[in-house]
Amino acid sequence: MHNQNTIFVTPKLLAQQSNALASLTKLAQQCNVALAYPNDARDEARLLCKAHPFLSSCLQATEQALFESVADKTGTFLLDEGIKLSFYCPLELATSSVITLFFHTLSDAIAYIQAFPRPGEQLPKLIDAYAALLAQGKLVAFPTETVYGLGADALNEEAVQSIFAAKQRPFFDPLIVHIADLDQLEGLVVDLDPRAKLLMDRFWPGPLTLILKKHPSVPAIVTANSQTVAIRMPSNPLALNLIKASGKAIAAPSANRFGYTSPTTALHVKEQLGERIDAILDGGACTVGIESTVLSLCTEVPTILRPGKIGLKELEPLLGEVKVSKQVGPTDTNLESPGLLESHYAPTTPLYLVDDVALYKDQSDVGVLLFEKQRVPFKGPVVYVSEKEDAEEAASRLYWAIRHLDSMNLRCMVGSLLPEEGIGVAINNRLRKASAKH
Ligand code: TXA
Ligand code: MG
Repeated sequence: MHNQNTIFVTPKLLAQQSNALASLTKLAQQCNVALAYPNDARDEARLLCKAHPFLSSCLQATEQALFESVADKTGTFLLDEGIKLSFYCPLELATSSVITLFFHTLSDAIAYIQAFPRPGEQLPKLIDAYAALLAQGKLVAFPTETVYGLGADALNEEAVQSIFAAKQRPFFDPLIVHIADLDQLEGLVVDLDPRAKLLMDRFWPGPLTLILKKHPSVPAIVTANSQTVAIRMPSNPLALNLIKASGKAIAAPSANRFGYTSPTTALHVKEQLGERIDAILDGGACTVGIESTVLSLCTEVPTILRPGKIGLKELEPLLGEVKVSKQVGPTDTNLESPGLLESHYAPTTPLYLVDDVALYKDQSDVGVLLFEKQRVPFKGPVVYVSEKEDAEEAASRLYWAIRHLDSMNLRCMVGSLLPEEGIGVAINNRLRKASAKH
């Protein structure tokens, strides 16, 4: 019924992106773009097909059937609200044979389709090629669910040194070692704490980094001479497969120049490190969007050194008492985790945290980060970090939004803190750090 080059689009996506249709129209010149709609969107679909003739056919389908049409390869891509791009690509460590990537704009998703018209064949080959580079001691940036990491073989001192050189990162700031398989813990940690096993069971693969007792074979440069080592198993299927295929544990800080905002797209990495590293694996936009929770099990009471998506609410039921390191707040200078400097994640344009962003509505050279729908018109550029006042969505778009405003040569940008709960704690922590310098 549909040939190999059919791209399915859902009405929700088109409704969301009505002003960004140009790129989709262009794509329709190269392949078949079909609007596919669930039963309850029939009227909407008819209207859309009429308004946008490039939508070659109008196929009625449930969301599930659409997903399956990609899984059984009758459709090449499914473009869905969010903006999600799904395609068939069976990877060993993925939970589904359909890989779903996220993008901040429809144009980004379409650029991906153009760069990778057959991702099911291309991605596994790229992963193998880049894994071989890692095994040779080279630097490869790759997507994780949190932010893009800059990876190197953790047990290869020279390779790890080149991470520090590329990032211009000081040696006092230790790295997180990424694994794809629990068997890799052997040779990285000693005296594994039973609480660590509980946490791994529950949260790995996922955005939780554990500080554990280090095995002597981990080079001092990885841990900044500390007797502890940070370990994490990311959940992004591309990351897992890359690590697995390299056969190595992979040391990876966020793939940005030291002190700057972490990258959440491949383009962010390219802009800051493109010339200095050997490859970038493009996996769209990171879904969590802020760095992993760093939890130390080497303190008397388990201690959160860096807040992230997994917070007290998730950790306490498993661990009992959990402390939050004081340096998580804005003013403490006693560093338990050396990378957690006060000024970090910082854009070039000054960011000010204010109570009411609406006070800046008449300033055309002030960019505004919005976390809720604003009724007042702003003269300067605004970026909705989340229109739905959804803190998880805000986290996933935060760094992208900051970078976007930072590229516009503005006098400054302003934003407000979120309610101090759930992932809002982590967002506020990053906002304070991004603004601390100024
Ligand atoms: O989500 C993430 O964690 C991302 C992705 C790529 O996995 N990585 C990341 O790495 O954010 P990086 O290097 O930008 O931040 C790692 C943080 C630093 O603040 C560092 O000081 C802390 O983890 N850290 C690493 N090893 C540590 C150790 N042994 N003890 C205490 N803190 C440690
Ligand atoms: Mg970092």
